[in-house]
Amino acid sequence: MVCCIISKLKSEPLWFLLLFSLSLFTILRFTLTFLNWVYVNFLRQPKNLKKYGSWALVTGPTNGIGKSFAFELARKGLNLILVGRNPDKLKDVSDSIQAKFIKTEVKTVVVDFTGDLDEGVDRIRETIDGLDVGVLVNNVGISYPYARFFHELDEELLKNLIKVNVVGTTKVTHAVLPGMLKRKKGAIVNIGSGAAIIIPSDPLYAVYAATKAYIDQFSRCLYVEYKKSGIDVQCQVPLYVTTKMASIKRSSFFVPFNKQQFHQFPYSFATNTQTPVRQHTPSPLLTFQPQPSLSSSTQTTLFR
Ligand SMILES: NC(=O)c1ccc[n+]([C@@H]2O[C@H](COP(=O)([O-])OP(=O)(O)OC[C@H]3O[C@@H](n4cnc5c(N)ncnc54)[C@H](OP(=O)(O)O)[C@@H]3O)[C@@H](O)[C@H]2O)c1
Repeated sequence: MVCCIISKLKSEPLWFLLLFSLSLFTILRFTLTFLNWVYVNFLRQPKNLKKYGSWALVTGPTNGIGKSFAFELARKGLNLILVGRNPDKLKDVSDSIQAKFIKTEVKTVVVDFTGDLDEGVDRIRETIDGLDVGVLVNNVGISYPYARFFHELDEELLKNLIKVNVVGTTKVTHAVLPGMLKRKKGAIVNIGSGAAIIIPSDPLYAVYAATKAYIDQFSRCLYVEYKKSGIDVQCQVPLYVTTKMASIKRSSFFVPFNKQQFHQFPYSFATNTQTPVRQHTPSPLLTFQPQPSLSSSTQTTLFR
């Protein structure tokens, strides 16, 4: 059969052979990419997150995605430092985590990311002093309360979007990274958004999408800067998830229910990265497209 095909090909003109080889190469490449995607998203075992350190720090853990991260990290055996703006909500989350995972230690730090960030980050530094924080989840983020044109944005919202989404993540990372560097291990998970990476533009949410583009590029650069220091960096880019921010109450195939999504978190942690997350959603293709430059590297080194 093979001999027959080869002898048939030999009699074909050169242009046909070139075209044939090119098609064969394209099909092979597509098949390998697909098989790799199946392996990374469905077969590869998650990493043992405790190997990064025994503590994880999560910002914005009192609701939505951050809360799910906190529970999932506790389930994976990590102690938690929860950073949020509301002491009562922090206590509620902390109590429920400790009720469910008795061995988990939880510390809370009150920081309003729209307030005095320098003071807030100093409190974080004091709290993590002496703790081996192996996982940092920069989840805190705000969006517009409703869609609007850029010129209609009030000064306050404009300032807060940049302060919470950009400055907050940058400063918290700056505070936590030195400890990871000293221990030569750590994982930084930044929550970006499909609004900046997957869709070509996000009109009427321009500043939100732009802040998330910062998170994406920040993550890519840190990934390269610190990969030789044992620190994995990934940016997760969810599309819609049913949280308070998204104002979507009903889940669907393309809009994962928050809790459900993050039940798959360890799996995603394993895979992508772009996330520990790509897998933790029912719509993995849309939600966790690997970033072109990060994807393979992040996916392999990061969480699996
Ligand atoms: N949901 C989506 O569809 C979606 C899609 C793509 C990306 N994301 C990203 O995912 C991350 C989490 O979003 P989410 O949907 O889970 O939002 P969420 O349900 O509104 O939760 C946001 C968390 O951040 C906290 N937070 C908000 N403003 C704060 C401030 N000034 N200081 C301190 N903490 C503050 C909230 O605290 P309180 O409980 O006190 O409000 C809450 O814990 C964000 O970075 C968001 O951009 C979400």
